[in-house]
Parts: sequence; C-alpha cells; structure tokens
Amino acid sequence: MVLYLIGLGLSSPEDITVRGLKAVQKCERVYLEAYTSILMAATKEDLESLYDREVILADRELVESGSDQILENAENVDIAFLVVGDPFGATTHTDLIIRARELGIPVEAIHNASVMNAVGACGLQLYNFGQTVSLVFFMDNWKPDSFYDRIKENRELGLHTLVLLDIKVKEQSFENMARGRKIYEPPRYMNIETAASQLLEIETLRKGSAYLPETPCVSISRLGSPQQKFIAGTLAEMAELESGDPLHSLVILGHRTHEMEVEYLLEFAKDKEGFKNAVTKEVEAAKAAQMAAVAEEEDDD
Ligand SMILES: C[S@@+](CC[C@H](N)C(=O)[O-])C[C@H]1O[C@@H](n2cnc3c(N)ncnc32)[C@H](O)[C@@H]1O
Repeated sequence: MVLYLIGLGLSSPEDITVRGLKAVQKCERVYLEAYTSILMAATKEDLESLYDREVILADRELVESGSDQILENAENVDIAFLVVGDPFGATTHTDLIIRARELGIPVEAIHNASVMNAVGACGLQLYNFGQTVSLVFFMDNWKPDSFYDRIKENRELGLHTLVLLDIKVKEQSFENMARGRKIYEPPRYMNIETAASQLLEIETLRKGSAYLPETPCVSISRLGSPQQKFIAGTLAEMAELESGDPLHSLVILGHRTHEMEVEYLLEFAKDKEGFKNAVTKEVEAAKAAQMAAVAEEEDDD
C-alpha cells in the first residue's frame, strides 16, 4: 500500500489540506513526527478527534532507528507520517523514505505551508533569501558555530538569512543519560533574545563581521497562528526582546533589501527611523565596498 508523508501546515488542526485529511482517514496507523516542530494551536487529542484515528507520537529515536516499526505491514495497509509544516521543510525524513523504497513501499507526499515559504508574510521576498541556517542551544563547553560562515556567505551576496531556532524535546540530562535513566527534561524552545545573544557571542569570538549589533533583522513569532508577530529592529535590539510563546525564527537582512521590502517592514519596527537608518547604512556600505573593489581592479589593470 502507501506511506503518506503529510504536511500539517503551521498552526491549527484544520490547516491540513483536504487531500491530506482524506489520506489520513484511510490509514491504518497514523504517526506524528514530534521533535522538529510543534503544531502551536493543537494537541494530539485535537488531531485524533478531527481525524477519527489514534495518533502515535514519533520521537527522534523511533523515526531514526525504528523506521521498520513505522513501516510494519505497509505492504498491506496505508500508513500516515504527519509532519508539522511541510514534510520537506528544513528536515527531510530521508531515512524513512529510503527504507520504504528498499521495501518496495510506494511513498506519496502531500504538501503544506512551511516556515520556509510562509516567512514571506513579514514582507521580505523569498527570492532574496540565501541559505537557511539552524542555531542550537549553546552549552558551557559546546557552542557549534557552523551557521556563521553560511550567514557570512549570504550577507556577502546581499541575501537574507532565515535562522531556524533549536527545539529540545525528550532530552535527557547528562546525569540521567549516564545512569541510563529514561527521565526527560521539559521541552525547550529557543526564543529570539537567546538566538540574538548567541549570534552576537559568536561574532565577538570570530570577528569576521558576518553581521554586527546594528545589522537589521526581523523576528518571526508564531507564524501562521492568530498570535503571529513580526518585529523589525537591529540584532542588538533583538537580544533585548521579550518574544513570548514559541515558535520563533529570526531573519538577518542582506544589503540587497528592496525599497518595498523596507516599506513593508517599517510597519513592524518600534524605532522606524532607527531601522530605516540601519538598512540605509548597510546598503551604502555595500555600495562603497563594491566601488572600492572596482577601483582596485582598475588600478591592477
Ligand atoms: C526544523 S524546522 C521544521 C520546519 C517544518 N517542517 C516546516 O516545514 O515549517 C523547525 C523550526 O522552524 C521554525 N518554525 C517552524 N514553524 C514556525 C512558526 N510557525 N513560526 C516561527 N518559526 C517557526 C522554528 O525555528 C522551529 O524551531
């Protein structure tokens, strides 16, 4: 039969598409991928009552190491694997798809809105975005910063960067892990202020001017829900926000920002004049750098 990968959209149970709903309702087993994102306005029980089906929560361990359990008897019955957003938004569940293919089980994806495209609602054009990066919670002795070079590459091209923020669900403390105790910490969702502080911390360490405290940014909170909120400001201002309930993402602007994008964003700026100046400064600095590069090339000739 079929393994359906079904996108749930961003917020409420009703965001599922009609085609997605029809597919879920004919499936024998329904799994909800429950570690890369959350459906902000729905519980598992809400989904169960809409689908009239039991929903099985699939944690990272089950998806990454237990794909055979998910695919059990899929030759004879349909199985649904639900993903918040779009099944291919940010994290692709490649292992599961490859395993289904190996077993000769057809896979069908039913798409939905993702943070990767709905982010356009803040006024920035999707065509002006570069590589998306992820930011994880820093620990005292572990501060992975591979995002830094990618943001720098985007910013050198003048492109915006969508920064996706860490979610920690079903994590064990070191002590519980070491003692083999299956006790899990409460879920944690990175907010905008932590993200901005971590970004600034890495800039201070790397000193590559990938971005600066005055770099213009937009916070993206609870996108697609009735509590959706955007705030435009500098990265330093983002570090002082109180961004509230999850989920959150952050966009770092590139210097190729179009006038219309700025006009749209001003609506979300607390300090409109300050934000406009921050963007203008970036655009002018990029122009000056370009002219300097041309002049240097002409000198070499
Ligand atoms: C690994 S991605 C998964 C994306 C999801 N599959 C999709 O297509 O939208 C999860 C991260 O995306 C961002 N995100 C997802 N939904 C969001 C929303 N509604 N509002 C703001 N950020 C969101 C958060 O940073 C979150 O930690």
